[in-house]
Amino acid sequence: MAVFNLGSINADLFYQVPHLLAPGETLASTQHSRGLGGKGANMSVAIARAAARAVHIGAVGADGRWAVERLLEYGVDTRNIVELDVPTGHAVIMVDDHGENAILLFPGANRALTEKHIASALMAATEADTFVFQNETSAQIEGATLASAKGMRVVYAAAPFDAQAVEAVLPMLDILVMNAVEAQQLTDALGMTLGALPVRDVIVTLGGEGCRWINTDAGTDQTFPAIPVTPVDTTGAGDTFTGFLVAGLDRGLPMEQAISLGQQAGAIMVTRHGTADVIPDLKDIEDARFS
Ligand code: RIB
Ligand code: NA
Repeated sequence: MAVFNLGSINADLFYQVPHLLAPGETLASTQHSRGLGGKGANMSVAIARAAARAVHIGAVGADGRWAVERLLEYGVDTRNIVELDVPTGHAVIMVDDHGENAILLFPGANRALTEKHIASALMAATEADTFVFQNETSAQIEGATLASAKGMRVVYAAAPFDAQAVEAVLPMLDILVMNAVEAQQLTDALGMTLGALPVRDVIVTLGGEGCRWINTDAGTDQTFPAIPVTPVDTTGAGDTFTGFLVAGLDRGLPMEQAISLGQQAGAIMVTRHGTADVIPDLKDIEDARFS
């Protein structure tokens, strides 16, 4: 089984700052680094580190070959990443002393993906496989439609949030993952509760408050407490959670265990500076002995 991930690939430019920028302010950064990121790339690396097969569907420009090579090095299947005549996406990420961030995104090649490209990547997919996507590429609706027609498990991490985008793909989803702010925005936009959404499993990450799983079929709503850690950089923690969750389900774990795996990986991730390059693996989780 495999997880096909329609996802963004970015160069992440990190700037440590004493506080997040205010309008009109000029602020000196105390530290700078560069790494592999993008919500999509982070998820693919997380899926691979969770010992599942990650097939990345994405795009870079000629300036992004290093990113593809790195994904390959991290165990991701990169054969469906195309090189387009558009610059590679990048993100300017400010991280403050509390580990909070603010991200400026330049989508670049990520938004030049087309349905044709996704269709050709999904030729190899079967109903035993999973399709996961987020909101940093183009052709999400087309991708979800193709995957759902194939009978794949369709998982959407609704970030960065766009109510219209969520509404359009809702009927195709098996699992919807959001943070608390996104969940609030969605219920406000649709005028319905999470339990009334036409999606079987709705997962809401609550940061320090843990995470909520609403199974709309069973009518259940469970909260999983957070693992207490001191955050230094929350960037990529949500992507890591989703990647491990999806990999766990792909490997046949029940939802509770897949959520727990995601929470443990996410907890380690907030204690590390960086994104795709520092995503933990199963050994790190074992060594952390959270439970
Ligand atoms: O979720 C974190 C990611 O958001 C970063 O890696 C950055 O590239 C942006 O896409
Ligand atoms: Na981090």
